[in-house]
Parts: sequence; C-alpha cells; structure tokens
Amino acid sequence: MTVITAEGTGEILDELRRYLDEDPPAISLPPRAYTSPELWELERERIFGRSWMLVAHAGQLAETGDYVALSIAGEAVVVTRGADGTLSAMSPICRHRLMPLVELGAGRTDSFTCPYHRWNYGLDGRLRGAPHMGGNKDFNVKNCRLPGFAVEEWNGLVYVNLDAAAEPIGAHLDLAAPDFVNYRLGDLVQVITVAEEWQANWKLALENGSENYHVIGLHRNTLEPFLPGGGDPHIKQYSPWVLHARTPFAAPIEPEALDLSELEKAHGMALLSFPTGGFLAMGDQVVWLSFIPLSIDRVQVVGGVLMPPELVASVDPEALARAQQTITAMVNNEDKVGLEAVQRGVTSRFAERGHLSPKEPGVIVFYQNLARALTREGDAWPGKL
Ligand code: FES
Ligand SMILES: [Fe+2]
Repeated sequence: MTVITAEGTGEILDELRRYLDEDPPAISLPPRAYTSPELWELERERIFGRSWMLVAHAGQLAETGDYVALSIAGEAVVVTRGADGTLSAMSPICRHRLMPLVELGAGRTDSFTCPYHRWNYGLDGRLRGAPHMGGNKDFNVKNCRLPGFAVEEWNGLVYVNLDAAAEPIGAHLDLAAPDFVNYRLGDLVQVITVAEEWQANWKLALENGSENYHVIGLHRNTLEPFLPGGGDPHIKQYSPWVLHARTPFAAPIEPEALDLSELEKAHGMALLSFPTGGFLAMGDQVVWLSFIPLSIDRVQVVGGVLMPPELVASVDPEALARAQQTITAMVNNEDKVGLEAVQRGVTSRFAERGHLSPKEPGVIVFYQNLARALTREGDAWPGKL
C-alpha cells in the first residue's frame, strides 16, 4: 500500500484547520486547494478511499443485470443488481492482466466478459470461466473474484464506499429522515437520469451545491423567480456526513401528490451528504445530484429527478420526461458554464481567497468537513455514530 504523506499540503491543511475554530473565518479556500496535485493525492486517500459516495438511484438498478459504472477519483467502480436482488459494488478490473471490464456508463448484462482474453465474471464479481487456463496448477477459477466494495441503499439512494470495511452510512442518514418523511423518498420513481462531465475541480461543484446565493447570478432567469438567491437559508448539521438545509421559495407551492406541511410548502428542503452527494426536495419533486471527481479538474455529475409514482402514472410519461429533461439540462448547464469559468479563475496568478456572504453558511460547513476528513490520518472517518 502506498503511504501518502501530507508533504507539500502543510500550508493548505493549516488553513483548513482554521475552519474548525469556534469562530471560523468566512473566507473561501486558498486557490491552490483546487490545483495542488499533492492535495488531490491526499483527497484520494483520505476522502475518496474511505467515504460513502452517492452514485445512483435504485431505479437505475431495478432489474437483474442492471449496472452502473463510474470512476471515484480515478478508481473504477461497477454496481450491479444480482439475480437474488442484492446489490454488489466492485472493482471492474480483470484479475488476469488488468483490462477494465466495462466502460463508464450504465447498461444491462448477465455477466462481464473481459474483451482481452475472455475471462468471464458473474454479477457478484466471481470468476465463472477462464479459457485455456487448465494447465496452470496455481490457478483456480473458484478462488478468483473481483475486489468488492461496500454498498448500501437508503430510501432508494445507492451509496458506495471503496473501504469494504466502512461503518454503514444508513444510521447517519436516518438522523435527517424525520425531516423528509412527507416526501416519501423510498416510494419515489426516477423520471430522468443525469450523467454529465464538467471541467472543474470537484470542490467547486460542492461549494456551489452548498449555497443558493449563486441563483441570483447563474440562474437568474430560471430558478431565481421561485427559489430566490437572496433568501435566508437555515441549516442543521446532524453528523459530519449529513447536513439539512432549508431555503425559502418566493411563494409557497401547492403539491399535487404529496401531503406536505406549511413549512415544506414554503421551502426547498435539501440533504447534503459529504463528500459529494445530496438532494433537494421541492414540492412534488426531488432532484438528487452527486459530483464525483474523475481527476483533479474533471467531475462526473450524476443524478436524477424523482417523483411520486401516482403523479407519474397520471400523465404522459414521455412528455413528463421531456419537460424534466429540458429544465434540468438548462439549470445544470448554467452551473456547468459558471463552474468551468471559475476553474479558469482559480488558476490565475492573481487569485486570492474571497470573503463569503452570510447567505453561504453551507460552504463553511463543507470546508469544515473537508478539514476533518483531510486532517485525520489512518483511522476511518467519521466512524461509528
Ligand atoms: S486481461 Fe482480462 S482476460 Fe486477460
Ligand atoms: Fe446552481
């Protein structure tokens, strides 16, 4: 196992620790935090090697053989639905001579056959057959399988952790569950799936997703009229993993299918799960997104729009999907264009840290989680409740 030291990241880590002070500074990260290769290596080890990542909705993995393949900070991962209904997450790298078994994306298959020499693996990662290997006395098909990762489903959301021995995340998410009972998360169906790639450091995407202030700029013609960026957010942190944020609508909305409280009718209700995932419930719909890094300056944006089944059944499903696709693509593109520009900004030789608005408390909480995760060596983070 490679041991990564914090060498070269000392100054950034010192600055990060200051966010854990009783009175944290309301300033953005040092610009080098978005471009330092040393910090990126540390993030790969201390965050992405041991954190729960929101990767899919169960609706994408409904049938036997459905799979989703992605990269978690450069580490290939495939999540499958087996014939017995269980989810498996594993490393889709062939055990023969390390050919990736599957491209990034999604699909349905009954097994994975390596294109190189046709070794064949089951949906649970077990090797089922390997041609012309009978003469190698050290090799036994039965002892060969793809390395497994931890996988957990919570209210239809599928989380993966590269640390197979990680403490479960469900208990952490359950702390916020009472805030979302009326949204019936477990019943919702995914009407569209989001899969994009943005040219930006993952932390820029997460900062952006942790505040609604940018709606006055990037989304001024789309979201601003109903979820104004000047609204005062109310946040509640349940655990280092889980933050609940409530943002006021311009005017209360009347859901068609869900039975919401007056507070819920008047607010967008978000749950953010560090490091990269979250969802925003707005009346009858829940939009989930996860910003999973591919590399230091590229991020996979995966997500979906969820709605109550009775609402979906009452309309033309294709028209509904088209309408959702149009608005989601428009809003996501506004963020993409904005963040790709910020990515150019952070590389300026004249870039400096900036002051944050009181409308951005979620950004400071994100920095605090980042500080906790990056400055903790060795042991699992954040561990048991
Ligand atoms: S590398 Fe996969 S079968 Fe040879
Ligand atoms: Fe946005």
